[in-house]
Amino acid sequence: MAVLQKIRKFFEPQIFEEEAVVPAPPTTYSIHPLTAKHLNEVMLLNVRCFKAGENYTKYTFSYLLSEPNTLSYRLISAEGNMVGFIFLMINSNGAGHVTTIGVAPEHRRRGLGIKLMEHVEKALKTRGISMITLEVRNTNAAAQEMYRSLGFSVVQRLREYYNNGEDGLLMVKSIDY
Ligand SMILES: CC(C)(COP(=O)(O)OP(=O)(O)OC[C@H]1O[C@@H](n2cnc3c(N)ncnc32)[C@H](O)[C@@H]1OP(=O)(O)O)[C@@H](O)C(=O)NCCC(=O)NCCS
Repeated sequence: MAVLQKIRKFFEPQIFEEEAVVPAPPTTYSIHPLTAKHLNEVMLLNVRCFKAGENYTKYTFSYLLSEPNTLSYRLISAEGNMVGFIFLMINSNGAGHVTTIGVAPEHRRRGLGIKLMEHVEKALKTRGISMITLEVRNTNAAAQEMYRSLGFSVVQRLREYYNNGEDGLLMVKSIDY
């Protein structure tokens, strides 16, 4: 009987416990370029920011980091840890496209997501780019709220855009000069 239970357990889908979040002590932060030498560090943070199946693979990060049209930045705490990242691609139509952004769970709700977004917006301005776009999961209320607060609007619902069949929202902002 015990053996049968063990076998059954073996085939059950694994449920991973959500990481219990203890807010980090107050600190200061700075933004720096993120390059191929930070690949492992960004991968580790990436899996803490996104659920399995929703995060980028090492291959995708490697590709983005090798693309000349990619802008990528890391957010570093005063203690020297990478606690946030953002990747943006400049599309052939001349618009900036945020491909991914993440902030470590224990550093959230401190305005850091906004800080990263504002940083890339400034970088686009210096290149004369006036449009920024992104896709966000229909269920990702936190990110949608952040983008709205920055002046993004939903312009299209993207049916079954994600691998799990979830809809995406295309959000756009025009950059003021
Ligand atoms: C989305 C994310 C980057 C936001 O980072 P953050 O540093 O916590 O964001 P900020 O502190 O700058 O928040 C700015 C505003 O966004 C909104 N917001 C952020 N998190 C929110 C949440 N959990 N619930 C509701 N609103 C939220 C609020 O309006 C917030 O302003 P407030 O704190 O003054 O109310 C972060 O939650 C994250 O890494 N999530 C997992 C990865 C992800 O979903 N990335 C986006 C993919 S499209």
